[in-house]
Amino acid sequence: MIPLRIACIGKHGQTAQALAAVAAGYASIELHQAGRDGADLTDATALEAFIHQSRAHVVINAGAYNLVDKAESDEATAFAVNAEGPRVLARLCRRHGVKLIHMSTDCVFDGVGSEPHREDETPRPLSAYGRSKLAGEMAVAEEYPDAVTARVCWVFSEFAGSFVSKVIEWARARPVLQIVSDQIGPPTYAPDIAIALLRLARTKVEGVRDLSGLLHLASPDVMSRSDMATAIMAESKRQGGPFAEIEPVSTASFNAPAKRPLNARLSGVKATAALGLSWTPFDEALERSVAGVLRRTET
Ligand SMILES: NC(=O)c1ccc[n+]([C@@H]2O[C@H](COP(=O)([O-])OP(=O)(O)OC[C@H]3O[C@@H](n4cnc5c(N)ncnc54)[C@H](OP(=O)(O)O)[C@@H]3O)[C@@H](O)[C@H]2O)c1
Repeated sequence: MIPLRIACIGKHGQTAQALAAVAAGYASIELHQAGRDGADLTDATALEAFIHQSRAHVVINAGAYNLVDKAESDEATAFAVNAEGPRVLARLCRRHGVKLIHMSTDCVFDGVGSEPHREDETPRPLSAYGRSKLAGEMAVAEEYPDAVTARVCWVFSEFAGSFVSKVIEWARARPVLQIVSDQIGPPTYAPDIAIALLRLARTKVEGVRDLSGLLHLASPDVMSRSDMATAIMAESKRQGGPFAEIEPVSTASFNAPAKRPLNARLSGVKATAALGLSWTPFDEALERSVAGVLRRTET
C-alpha cells in the first residue's frame, strides 16, 4: 500500500491517542502528532511549520477548546481555537495542497426531537462552545471546500478525559453519582473513530470518492448518560474496580452554565456506507475501556 503521511493536531487528546494506537498497527501509515507546544491552533507560524516538517498528505485537526461550560464566560478563547484556528489551518492546507480533516461536534445542534441528526440538517447551537465549533465548520468549508468536517459525539475510551475514566474517578470519591438521564446520544468508541479517520484520510488522498463537507462518525447504539454511567459502574465492579450507585437526574436540575442538546444522536449512516465502517458493540468497547482505565490508574 502507498505510504500515507498524516499530521495530527491535538496530540494529548482522546481521539489523537486512539489514532496513535490504531495507526501503530499499519506499516503504511506514518503519523506525526503535535500538542499545543508544536501546533497551537492560535499560532499560524507554528501550524505552517508543522505541516511543512511533517510533509503530510493529510492533516487531521483533533485539537479543540472543549471546556463546554467555561466557554460561556470565555467565548473569545473558544472562537480563537475552534473557529479562527481552523480557518487559518484550512487556508494553509489548501495553499500547500494538503488534504484536511477537521473535527466537530453534535453541540452544533439544538437537540430537539428524537431522530438522529443528519449532515444536511440546519445547525442551531445552544452554547458558546457549539457556536464556536459551528463557526469553525463554516470557516473550514469557506476556505477549503475539499476539506471534510467529521462530527463526533460522546467519544469514549480508556484514555484520560474520557467519560469512562471520569466516572471511575468520581466513584473513588463518592458512593452515589448524579448523572443526567434526559441527554440521549451515541457513545462512540474512540478507536472506531480513529479507524474511520484513517479510512477517510486514505480515501481523500487516493481520490477514489468525493467525500468533502460534513460527515458524521457515530455509533448506531444510543443511550442516556445515566444508562452509560450505570454500565460503566457495572463493568468496573465486574473487573474489581471502584463502584458507585448512579442516581438519574434531569439536565435542568444541574443548572450547568452551558446548555447541551438533549438529543445528541448523530446519524452515521452516510459515513458507515461510504467508508465501509463497522462499530464495536458497546459492551465490548466498554469492557476494553474500563480495563484500560483500571490498568492505567492502579499503578
Ligand atoms: N470527546 C467528545 O466526546 C467529543 C464530542 C464531540 C466532539 N468532539 C470533538 O472531537 C475532537 C477531538 O476531541 P477529543 O475529545 O479527542 O479532544 P480532547 O481529549 O478534549 O483533547 C483536545 C485537545 O486539544 C488540544 N488543544 C486545546 N487548545 C489547543 C490549541 N490552542 N491548539 C492546539 N491544540 C489545542 C488540547 O491540548 P492540551 O492537552 O494541551 O490541553 C487537547 O489535547 C474535537 O474537535 C472535539 O470538539 C469530541
